[in-house]
Amino acid sequence: MTKTFGDRIAVDDVSFSVARGEVFGFLGPNGAGKTTTVRILGTLIAPTSGSAVVAGIPLVPANEAEIRRRISIMPEAPGLYRRLTVTENLEYFARLYGLPGRQARIREALDAVDLGDRAQDLCGSLSKGLRQRVALARTLLNDPEVMFLDEPTSGLDPVAAHEVHGLINTLRQRGVTVFLTTHRLDEAERLCDRVAIMNTGLRTIGRPDELRHMLFSRSLAVTTAAPLGDPDRIFAGLPAVESWRDAGTPTAVPAGASAATPSGYVVAVSDPARAAPAVTRALVAAGADVLSITESRYSLEDVYLELVEDQEGAAR
Ligand SMILES: Nc1ncnc2c1ncn2[C@@H]1O[C@H](COP(=O)(O)OP(=O)(O)O)[C@@H](O)[C@H]1O
Ligand SMILES: [Mg+2]
Repeated sequence: MTKTFGDRIAVDDVSFSVARGEVFGFLGPNGAGKTTTVRILGTLIAPTSGSAVVAGIPLVPANEAEIRRRISIMPEAPGLYRRLTVTENLEYFARLYGLPGRQARIREALDAVDLGDRAQDLCGSLSKGLRQRVALARTLLNDPEVMFLDEPTSGLDPVAAHEVHGLINTLRQRGVTVFLTTHRLDEAERLCDRVAIMNTGLRTIGRPDELRHMLFSRSLAVTTAAPLGDPDRIFAGLPAVESWRDAGTPTAVPAGASAATPSGYVVAVSDPARAAPAVTRALVAAGADVLSITESRYSLEDVYLELVEDQEGAAR
C-alpha cells in the first residue's frame, strides 16, 4: 500500500500481514504514517495505490460497510461528548452504528472495561485514563473481530497505561485481533506477538526477540575486580566464544568492589548457555576475581533506535 498527500509520501509501499487473534504492534516516530495506515485499513481514506484485505474481506468500496461491521477503531483522540454521561455517549454511538440489543451491549462493554459504577457520570468529569476506558468500551460495542487502537496510552500516567495494557490482554484472551500503534517500545515489547517498525516505509517486522537477535549479536558482559593480564589467552578458543573486546572501566561498579580498577569485557558468543560456564571457569583458572557475568540484553528500544536513526542518518 502507498498513500500520498499531494507530493508528500505518508506511507511508502508498505506490505505486511497480521494473523487472526494476534496482537500486532505498529511502531514508528511521529509522522511515520501509522495513523494514515489505520485510516486506510479502517475504510476512512483510500490508498493511493495497492490493496488490502481486512478481517478477511478485500478492501474495496463495495465492501466498506461490511468491513466496518467487523472492525472498530479507537482513534488518537477519544472523541466523546463531555456533557453527556458515559451511558449516553455509548447509547449515542450504538444508535449511530445501528446496533441491535443496545442495552445489553452497553452493559457488557462497560463491564469489560470495569466502568459499571461510573455509567451515570458525565464524561467531562472523568480523568483522562477513565475517558480512554470509555473510548475502549465504545470500540467494544459492535463485538469486533479486528480492533485498531491508535496510541491508546499516549498521555496516560503509568497506572492508567497499565490498566489499558490489562484490557489489551483481555482482548487477546477473547481472540480479538489487535492492531496497536504506539511509539512506546516497552508497551510493544510487553504486549505484542509481533511488531512492525515503520518510518514511511516498513523498516522491519518480526517477534520482538527475533528483531533483537537479527540486529545484535549475542554477548556476555564480564566485569573483573582488576584488569586481566592477558585477556586473549583467557577468552580465545573457548566454546561458543567468537570474539572479545575491552569495555574499559564499567560505570556501575558493584558495591564493595576493591580498590583495584574494575574492568569490563564484552565477549561475543554464539550460545550464551554454552559460553558463560566456560568463560567463568577460564577466568577463575586464570586467578581473576569475577565481579559479574551476565548476558547483554538488547531491548526493543535498541532495535528501534538502530533502525530509525540509521534512516535519519542516511537522509541527511
Ligand atoms: N490529511 C492529510 N493531509 C496531508 N498530509 C497528511 C494528512 N494526514 C497525514 N499527513 C502527513 O502524512 C504523514 C504521516 O502522518 P501520520 O499517519 O499521522 O503519522 P503518525 O500517525 O505515524 O504520527 C505526516 O507527514 C503527515 O503530516
Ligand atoms: Mg498518529
